[in-house]
Amino acid sequence: MLHLVCALAALASTSLAAEVPIGVTNSAVTLLPATDGSWTTFNAPGAFNKSASFNIKNSDLGQITINSPLAFVGFELWAYQRSDGGVVQLTFDGARTTNVDIYNASSTGQDPPLKLYEVSGLDNTPHEVVIKNLNDPRVGHFGQTNLDHVVLITYEAPAVTSTPTPTPTPTPTPSPSPSDSEASPAADQTTPAEQNAPTGTGAGSTLSVPVVAFAVVLLPLFGDLV
Ligand SMILES: *[C@@H]1O[C@H](CO)[C@@H](O)[C@H](O)[C@H]1NC(C)=O
Ligand SMILES: *[C@@H]1O[C@H](CO)[C@@H](O)[C@H](O)[C@H]1NC(C)=O
Repeated sequence: MLHLVCALAALASTSLAAEVPIGVTNSAVTLLPATDGSWTTFNAPGAFNKSASFNIKNSDLGQITINSPLAFVGFELWAYQRSDGGVVQLTFDGARTTNVDIYNASSTGQDPPLKLYEVSGLDNTPHEVVIKNLNDPRVGHFGQTNLDHVVLITYEAPAVTSTPTPTPTPTPTPSPSPSDSEASPAADQTTPAEQNAPTGTGAGSTLSVPVVAFAVVLLPLFGDLV
């Protein structure tokens, strides 16, 4: 799917924005502490790619790092709200920080993940995002931080109104040079296009080819049947 998006973007030769989801099983995601049992990953309700991770132990040290080589200008955090409290601190590239509230006293274990944070207008470079679990003063402890997935939104080049560029006319070189041998295949390539040009000019001439072919194929068949 991503390859298709990239291929289409390349064909259009413009930079289209893409939304690239990164799930917890992606190698761009690191869950800390790495200690066995600190995190559990399972198919929670509505989980992206059937995998969401929850920091069930050592929550005071809970940290998620997203480090993708992809350049992106927008970012979304999708996670589960927690009825047991929760605040996380997001840090972009070790500098820009923001706190995100994941506490919702009335959320249940059946709720799907929600987009709990989004940002746009980042520099068009790769960014390291660190999501650190914080002590939630409202409940007096660290909540169970978790990750469903993040979305990296890539840069979309502004639309440019292009004026047609006139085709440069090749100037003949007076003396033979190595560039002449390179130029001759290019000159050959223009020949089929020029030959094809008259075919498309009249509707009658383009129609006549299939009609004749039809008659040539079918007339002997009718002859056999009669
Ligand atoms: C979905 O999970 C599988 C198994 O972990 C993984 O191989 C695959 O890359 C994931 N797909 C996406 C789109 O994240
Ligand atoms: C809190 O969770 C409840 C139950 O799922 C939901 O209806 C409500 O919209 C949530 N509140 C917020 C602010 O997200």
